[in-house]
Amino acid sequence: MTAHSGRHFLQIPGPTNVPDRVLRAIAQPTIDHRGADFAAFTLDLLPRVRAVFGTTGPVVVYPSSGTGAWEAALVNTLSPGDRVLAFETGHFATLWREMAESLGLVVDFVPGDWRRGVDPAAVAERLAADREHGIAAVLVVHNETSTGVTSRVPEIRAAIDAAEHPALLLVDTISSLASLDYRHDEWGVDVTVGCSQKGLMLPPGLGFNAVGPKALAAAGTARLPRSYWDWAPVIEANERGFYPYTPPTNLLYGLREALTLLEAEGLPRVFARHARHAEATRAAVRGWGLQVLCADPREYSGSLTAVLLPEEHDADRVRRVVLDRFDMSLGTGLGRLAGRVFRIGHLGDLNDLTLAGTLAGVQLGLELAGVAVEPTGLQAALDVLRTA
Ligand SMILES: Cc1ncc(COP(=O)(O)O)c(C=O)c1O
Repeated sequence: MTAHSGRHFLQIPGPTNVPDRVLRAIAQPTIDHRGADFAAFTLDLLPRVRAVFGTTGPVVVYPSSGTGAWEAALVNTLSPGDRVLAFETGHFATLWREMAESLGLVVDFVPGDWRRGVDPAAVAERLAADREHGIAAVLVVHNETSTGVTSRVPEIRAAIDAAEHPALLLVDTISSLASLDYRHDEWGVDVTVGCSQKGLMLPPGLGFNAVGPKALAAAGTARLPRSYWDWAPVIEANERGFYPYTPPTNLLYGLREALTLLEAEGLPRVFARHARHAEATRAAVRGWGLQVLCADPREYSGSLTAVLLPEEHDADRVRRVVLDRFDMSLGTGLGRLAGRVFRIGHLGDLNDLTLAGTLAGVQLGLELAGVAVEPTGLQAALDVLRTA
């Protein structure tokens, strides 16, 4: 392996770069999770976590990956044989569907081309056709990390309401939380799924479920087997500042520090920063003469951009060149997009010059891998960064 100086550029769409302040916060002595100090810590922390989700209700924090939080959302709200409506927006929507099926749910999976988000009109149509109200939940991946497409959750909610359908709305915000505008309460979401390693700028290891009142009520009758994922004992113990099992104390220290950073910047400015970096990235892609995978400008992702290469080029070769020569990791194409796209993560702890360096590395990598690109791409991104 080539020796590199300087810092590695981790520009995949999560895990993201962990700020030094957060790393230092994690590197503190672990304390007694049944002691008074820990209870005080948790009671201060949880309301601040809720604010990131835009909720005043409970947020259950698990020692888990995002996949665990997906499972928690399903097993707490649904029963074996329940029908759920889901949309093939990309790799992660497909994985969530597979999980739902493996748990014994029946999934109406609306096909998609992996370039668009959930179509609110399709939600309206499917729910209007379901006159017996057999569909128990609608599953939406807010930001499809495999494609860089963001679904319009408020319009989806409006479609559910217009159909006067009682289905729960379960939303995966794994690559949008703390990066893109998101409002659990205001948008009428029933369960929001999140995790630590993306917009929250933490290492992997925390999964989240924000739980709305309708979801909490559904948990009372949901019959899918659950034990570790059961919300009830966590919510009950959290009221006193504790957990029903050993919590990941040091990751929670990191979470507190990450929240301090986000609070200092202010969520609206965090969202605007992500949108601006996404715009600069798309300017570069267009300048290179390449295509952004996302087909609908209303659905451009603020946290990552998937770049489609001409058929004759292998996107993984570009990624290899970029890694070998410039010590930068870019996201690979997942599922049916393998080899066709690479993904640029521009979320989390990032500033204008990190992005400029990232895009310079991508441009050099494309040139060295033999992809014919216009060198004006980088300049187009700098123009956005200069003026915005
Ligand atoms: C949108 C989305 N959902 C779910 C997951 C799965 O999360 P994890 O890999 O932490 O289990 C990911 C992972 O990147 C994701 O991007």
